[in-house]
Amino acid sequence: MNLLIERNAKDMSATAARLVARQVLTQPRSVLALPTGDTPRGMYDVLVGLEQGGLLDLSGVCAFNLDEYLGLPEDDPRSFRSYMLKHLWERLAAPPAHRYIPMSNPADEQAECTAYDEAMRRAGGVELMVLGIGPNGHIGFNEPGTPWALGTHFVALAEVTRRKEAARFGGLANVPRWGISMGIRTIMRSGQIVLLASGEGKAEVLARALLGPVTTEVPASVLQLHPRLTVVVDRPAAGALTTP
Ligand code: PGA
Repeated sequence: MNLLIERNAKDMSATAARLVARQVLTQPRSVLALPTGDTPRGMYDVLVGLEQGGLLDLSGVCAFNLDEYLGLPEDDPRSFRSYMLKHLWERLAAPPAHRYIPMSNPADEQAECTAYDEAMRRAGGVELMVLGIGPNGHIGFNEPGTPWALGTHFVALAEVTRRKEAARFGGLANVPRWGISMGIRTIMRSGQIVLLASGEGKAEVLARALLGPVTTEVPASVLQLHPRLTVVVDRPAAGALTTP
């Protein structure tokens, strides 16, 4: 594992964007997997800046999103599709021609999971995956207890995951109860993984994920087994990784 501890969230974002940019500059047709959430927003800002500066061209990449809510209209501003449009795709002069996000309202949920796995397989598999980590150690929407062998699947969202989004949805009752997510199997088969964490609130779960036992109870702990994992964090998130 490669651990990069940056001074603050801004530096974490710049480092994360550099890792993505390096991948795309050397392989313009890379297959990427991308997260949503508060943590990667700064990384997307930096990537947009690199494109606007003429340094980076993302038009050739094939991009898959990690997860999506189930049951929200796709154009709902809180869907992950809307997030990606707002924070990345619509800001690029030349967005990737191939972009995939699980459907939030599929007619057949199982068929959508199978189709998503098939699209990743056809693309040749994910080469670089960027992940955030949830307060309970989830990656994507793989909540604690999720078996490692799953491909794309639908999930009942954990209470803590839903509570974190309550303000954005105007109350816990309005937060979707279900999501659709790439599975741990797919995550672990990607060529390279970049895990991001920012802020004191992630310190304890990050330490459990990186230093504790590998267990389905802390989904991110499985990343300890990945041969090419780079963890990029700011100092507050790294706060529990060392003993004083
Ligand atoms: P966050 O979400 O970046 O908004 O903290 C991460 C996650 O829950 O996976």
